[in-house]
Amino acid sequence: MSNIIEGYLGKRVDGKKSRLPARLDFIQSATGLFLGLFMWGHMFFVATVLISEDALNTIAGAFEGSLFLSEKQPLIVSFIVFVVFCIFVVHACLGMRKLPINFRQYQIYKTHASYMKHSDTSLWFWQAKTGFILFFLGSAHLIIMLTNPTITAEISGGRMYSHFMWPFYLILLFAVELHGGIGLYRLCVKWGWFEGKDTKETRKRLSKVKWALTIFFLALGLVTLLAYVKVGYKYATQNSHAQHVENTIEKIDINAGKVRI
Ligand code: HEM
Repeated sequence: MSNIIEGYLGKRVDGKKSRLPARLDFIQSATGLFLGLFMWGHMFFVATVLISEDALNTIAGAFEGSLFLSEKQPLIVSFIVFVVFCIFVVHACLGMRKLPINFRQYQIYKTHASYMKHSDTSLWFWQAKTGFILFFLGSAHLIIMLTNPTITAEISGGRMYSHFMWPFYLILLFAVELHGGIGLYRLCVKWGWFEGKDTKETRKRLSKVKWALTIFFLALGLVTLLAYVKVGYKYATQNSHAQHVENTIEKIDINAGKVRI
């Protein structure tokens, strides 16, 4: 009965409002923080290809249990991806609550934003747009990793170059770095982390740090992307050369057979 009253009136019998929205906000922040920090680790991990192919393969092997198992077990990576994917879905579900759901809401937001000219409000819209892109591209990437958990420089490079996935990763990179950077900044502002005496000054400082981090991870990501394309190109040309040699040997064999006949 109490639920029905709250459902109609938006208030409980005791006159108080539900705490659920605040709890959901907290979960959204916690999952966002996890994903933001995870992405920093992830970007450094994929960037090990810049050191060498072996460096990436060794670290990827460690995720498959090479340090404590006699044989690598890619299912461990699938399990990690599954956990990250669940957190990603929870975060996306909770984020959806904040998007404008009809033209009127969108109109109100746009009018407020254009009159206020408040950079944090404009940033929020970028976060909404990039979040929308991540629904699709982030999910696609995680499903690929879930079902193809073996990570090597050759496989990843092949995906980028031969499967022509570099444009996909380029868009994903910009979407995730902008979304994550803005998200972590908003978390600091929302929960008052690193707050000094002067709030305006703190925001300015946080905003500078945010842009510095975003530019750093974008630059690292772009160089990493190029390195994967280069590795993919190397293996593709090696393989096509090997295929050419094989075909030529086959032709010679066939012709030799003809001569023998
Ligand atoms: C445990 C989960 C994850 C694993 C194991 C993983 C693994 C990888 C690997 C191996 C690559 C290299 C390209 C490839 O092989 O396809 C890559 C690239 C990338 N991943 Fe993930 N990923 C995970 C989660 C995520 C998430 C949640 C996001 C963001 C939504 C993301 C965004 C990216 C981006 C933007 C790149 C391109 C990086 C660059 O080229 O600089 N990944 N990931």
